[in-house]
Amino acid sequence: MASLDTPRIVSSRWSLPDSHTLSRYLDSGGYVALRKALTMFPEAVAAEVDAASLLGRGGAGFPAGRKWSMLRRSAISYLVVNGDESEPATFKDHYLVEHDPHQLVEGVIIAAYALQVSQAFIFLRGEFALGLERVQQAVNDAYEYGALGSTIFGSSFSLDIVVHPGAGAYICGEETALIEALEGKRGFPRIKPPFFPAAVGLYGEPTVVNNVETMSNLPWIVNNGGAAFAALGEGRSTGTRLFALAGRVRNPGVYEIEMVKNTFRDLIYDPRLGGGIIDDRAIKAIIPGGVSAPWFTPDLLDVPLGQDEVAAKGSMLGSGSIVVLDDTSCVVRATWRIVKFFSRESCGQCTPCREGSGWLERIMYRLEHGGGRAEDLDLLLDLSDNIAPGLTWPPQQTTICVLGPSIPSSIHSAITLFRDDFVAHVEHGSCPHV
Ligand SMILES: Cc1cc2nc3c(=O)[nH]c(=O)nc-3n(C[C@H](O)[C@H](O)[C@H](O)COP(=O)(O)O)c2cc1C
Ligand code: SF4
Repeated sequence: MASLDTPRIVSSRWSLPDSHTLSRYLDSGGYVALRKALTMFPEAVAAEVDAASLLGRGGAGFPAGRKWSMLRRSAISYLVVNGDESEPATFKDHYLVEHDPHQLVEGVIIAAYALQVSQAFIFLRGEFALGLERVQQAVNDAYEYGALGSTIFGSSFSLDIVVHPGAGAYICGEETALIEALEGKRGFPRIKPPFFPAAVGLYGEPTVVNNVETMSNLPWIVNNGGAAFAALGEGRSTGTRLFALAGRVRNPGVYEIEMVKNTFRDLIYDPRLGGGIIDDRAIKAIIPGGVSAPWFTPDLLDVPLGQDEVAAKGSMLGSGSIVVLDDTSCVVRATWRIVKFFSRESCGQCTPCREGSGWLERIMYRLEHGGGRAEDLDLLLDLSDNIAPGLTWPPQQTTICVLGPSIPSSIHSAITLFRDDFVAHVEHGSCPHV
């Protein structure tokens, strides 16, 4: 059974009626953390986040406190919040912006105070129509309430927030592409180094970029202290985390659970969470951290849901999205759909990603649609090796950003783990399992 007796840090209001409104937020403890933070030195607020060991929730899992302290050596000009969330099966930030926009706004103001910036941007996926409306309303209400604008709650701290809708490109989730898009340019990832937008970020100024969920944890951390947050979870994976569970489970959805203390089995099978597999079928594969992650087989169901624990088994917890395939799922079709997504979303700057993703997609298409050839399997792996040499994990990179080496993950996993399914597609022109 899953361990569910820990506090819900970011999803506590989701079941309340009108959870997105200012009045409900204030009734349920909203903006208390900001008032407290404003009585502290900015460094003390940052120290609490550092003590919490809050890992960034956007995918790379870099500690927020460490990112801020690296950057604080030079004055930061802008705080940018990444709410692009466009990867298939990743849908946790979507819930945060729709159900608790004030928590996000309060987290952004706290972070801005800790970093002493006076201008922040919330970049949201353009298709989040309701989320955009609610976050904009929350920002407007916060201005009226005195939590935003000049001399917040009578203090000497002032902040403005601009809510910016994306134009529908997945690549704008990559932080440097997001910055380009915010500047009004095409969303092209920038060449690294610099690896963080610290030195040269938005408008060429030092910039911190953090994820929506990362920001949403801050009010609780300030109210309860970094140590209380760090007491949850284990090792480097502290606190709770939102997991977006999708695929062949009875109860797909977003669940907030303590890190490391729960396993994939707990999340997928506990009746209060995933509820098990539809029709009690057997699990065939699990995609653990977004569709760029290498796949797990059911023998890894007892791996704890922690960043290092999943990495030790050769994959990543990434964006916290978990997709379950059962024995009626076609892995060739699943792989084709994933590769098709990446091929469509490649920004086109790098040849291996631009050309390779298209070639891979066309080969996967013919395998899925009955035109596959025996030599296609080796061809797929050979092309994949050109995008991510050695097909190792973490991947080697020949491209400007990690979208490129994300593409071969599913192909490599699917062919390595389920080669017979690919062979069956070549021999029979269709899937034996569907
Ligand atoms: C192709 C690609 C897409 C990404 N999409 C997102 C996204 O939608 N949301 C997000 O927060 N981070 C995304 N990231 C990670 C960001 O570049 C960055 O690491 C993150 O926003 C930093 O916030 P965090 O430290 O709070 O996790 C993406 C990265 C890549 C390479
Ligand atoms: S790896 Fe792909 S998405 Fe990333 S910069 Fe290169 S072409 Fe664009």
